[in-house]
Amino acid sequence: MNILVVYASKTGTVRDCIELLKKNLSSCTFTTVDINGDKEQIGILGYDMIIIGSPIRMNKIDKKIALFLKTNRETLLKSKTAYFLCCGFCDCFEDYAIKNIPNDLREKAVAVTCFGGRFDVSAQKGIDKLIVRMIRSDILGGGANGDQRKDMSLPTILENNISQFAEIIRSKIKDDKN
Ligand SMILES: Cc1cc2nc3c(=O)[nH]c(=O)nc-3n(C[C@H](O)[C@H](O)[C@H](O)COP(=O)(O)O)c2cc1C
Repeated sequence: MNILVVYASKTGTVRDCIELLKKNLSSCTFTTVDINGDKEQIGILGYDMIIIGSPIRMNKIDKKIALFLKTNRETLLKSKTAYFLCCGFCDCFEDYAIKNIPNDLREKAVAVTCFGGRFDVSAQKGIDKLIVRMIRSDILGGGANGDQRKDMSLPTILENNISQFAEIIRSKIKDDKN
């Protein structure tokens, strides 16, 4: 089973999720392409599955991933695809998916899943450090008495969602072989 993963990752969460996904699908062969790092043209034909992963920043997926979806729309519609997003506010995931992944691509996908995210201050640079520090302090000390907000907690990588996603991929690829 040949799987292509096209991804973006500013601070490594998406990349770490891909490593967990690989562990869940250890019998598959993975080709991974960092859309912001790898310079060569991406060939997307000939794979059993194409997985696209992006972080959400300011409600949006990575710009180059958005462009990739637009440029490769026809091929993606003819291929087996699955999408995952990493975000800090998982409650908003459905909204992020609807607004960032075109309807036809979403409907054709075998899975569109939230893998969770991180608000890690040490991984940020410049203004992002400040933003993440503010968000963390709002979550951890945002209550009237400076207590942790009861309705929120810091996000983490959702390993269960990754295993369920892997299970769907495994079963869809198997269906095709039968
Ligand atoms: C500047 C900035 C903006 C962000 N904006 C959002 C957002 O709009 N919604 C959200 O759910 N998470 C947001 N996040 C959280 C990221 O999605 C989260 O940190 C994710 O783990 C990043 O993935 P990466 O490490 O692969 O880049 C933001 C994080 C940063 C640093």
